[in-house]
Amino acid sequence: MKQMLLLVALLGLAITAPAQDIKLDPPTRSGGKPLMETLNERRSERAFVQKEMPLQTLSDLLWAANGFNRPDKRTAPTAVNKQELELYVIIGAKAYHHDARANTLHLVAEGDFTTAIGQPNITEKAAVNIVIVGDGAKTTPKYLYLDAGYISQNIYLYAASAGLGTVARASYRGPELYKALKLTEKQEVILVHPVGFLK
Ligand SMILES: Cc1cc2nc3c(=O)[nH]c(=O)nc-3n(C[C@H](O)[C@H](O)[C@H](O)COP(=O)(O)O)c2cc1C
Repeated sequence: MKQMLLLVALLGLAITAPAQDIKLDPPTRSGGKPLMETLNERRSERAFVQKEMPLQTLSDLLWAANGFNRPDKRTAPTAVNKQELELYVIIGAKAYHHDARANTLHLVAEGDFTTAIGQPNITEKAAVNIVIVGDGAKTTPKYLYLDAGYISQNIYLYAASAGLGTVARASYRGPELYKALKLTEKQEVILVHPVGFLK
């Protein structure tokens, strides 16, 4: 009987506490600077002060980047509405996949991502590094790259509006990053966006 109770307790633990996932609160979806001011302030920033990003800011950032702003469509358009792009978020030594519908970060890998992300002078001090990943099986290469551009610009605009800094980066270390994020053969990294607090 004791063994049975122990088994049930362990099973309960396994069901309730396996994940180091992060359930984010709903995004704010309002406020920010007016669009023309935001566009005026949009720029690439590469110098950050190392500081943790509040989870509400992260939720707002990810929603602005590629969240659902209608039941089945998003803040960034995609050709033929293929929605072939996903965001991964690297925070320190942890990498998460963002489930945009559930607004949850699922832990996918742990380790040192510095070499894989590249440009450590920029990326190490960023609060988060967002990796834009596409599923090449869902669309053409042309659309994949075009669609990623909208997400990148959304990140730029959110950062400008929130007083944060970011830069689109294509100079990551491909093979290392694919391996570190445990991507499948169909998945392609398009850009890495460090987002951080301005110096
Ligand atoms: C597709 C793309 C790739 C880029 N890759 C890098 C990069 O690897 N490293 C970097 O420091 N900046 C990178 N940039 C940022 C550009 O250098 C920057 O946008 C350009 O100098 C113009 O500056 P601005 O964004 O402030 O207008 C990239 C920009 C784009 C659009």
